[in-house]
Amino acid sequence: MLKQQAGIEACMYVKNGMKVGLGTGSTVKHTVIELGRRIHDEGLEIVGVPTSLATEKLAQKVGIPLLELSECSHLDIVIDGADEVDGNFNLIKGGGAALLREKIVAQESLAMVVVADDRKMVDVLGAFPLPIEITPFAHQSTIKQLGNLLDCRVNCRMSGDNPVITDNGNYIADAHCGPTIDDPVRLEGEILKIAGVVQVGLFNEMCDVVVLASDSGVEILTNPMGRLT
Ligand code: A5P
Repeated sequence: MLKQQAGIEACMYVKNGMKVGLGTGSTVKHTVIELGRRIHDEGLEIVGVPTSLATEKLAQKVGIPLLELSECSHLDIVIDGADEVDGNFNLIKGGGAALLREKIVAQESLAMVVVADDRKMVDVLGAFPLPIEITPFAHQSTIKQLGNLLDCRVNCRMSGDNPVITDNGNYIADAHCGPTIDDPVRLEGEILKIAGVVQVGLFNEMCDVVVLASDSGVEILTNPMGRLT
C-alpha cells in the first residue's frame, strides 16, 4: 500500500511529451501501471525507456510506447525505486538485479525521482547488502578481491543452485558491509577499479527527489543540490 502511494504520487513529475526512464521493482511498478492508465484514460503522451526486461514487459502490457535508449538524445526524467537512501540522497540499488541498466538510464536522464517507503531511509548506507554486477568469467576471483577491499562477506547471489543471471548475462555479488558506507563516492570509485566489476549499486549524486510514503502520508524530499529545486 505504501509502495503504491509513492509510485502513483511520483507520476505528477511526468508531463506530455516527456521521455521517461522506467525503473524496476515492486514500488515503481505502480508508477508504470499509473502511467499506462493516464495514457489510456487521459491521453497522456509520453514514451518510456525501461530499465529491465521485466519492466519492458509490464510497460508493454499497460500500453506505454517504448523506445531504446540509443534512440533518444536524453531522457527528461527517470523514476525508480531504491533499497536504501541516505541523508545526502545517495542510494543503494540493485536488490532486483537491474542496477546496470538502471544506472545507464539514470545517467542519461535530466532528473531522477526515487519512489520509496520510509523503511528505505537510513543514516549510513550498507545495512542492505550492496549489489555489485560482475562478469561470470573469474567471478570467484572478483568476489575474493571485493571481500579484501570491503573487508566483509561477499556472496554470489544464487537462485537455487545456480547464480542469478542479470538481463546483461552477468552475475550479482552482494557485499555485506553493514551500515558503514559513510563515503559512498570514494567507495564507488574503489570498487569500479576491480577489473571483473561491471557496475556497483551505489547511485551517488544522481537522485533529485524522493517521493516517500509512510503511515502519515506521502512526503516529497527535495535534494537541495539537485536539479528539481
Ligand atoms: C532493482 O534492481 C532495484 O534497484 C530496485 O529499484 C530496488 O531494489 C527497489 O525495489 P523495491 O521497490 O521492490 O523495493
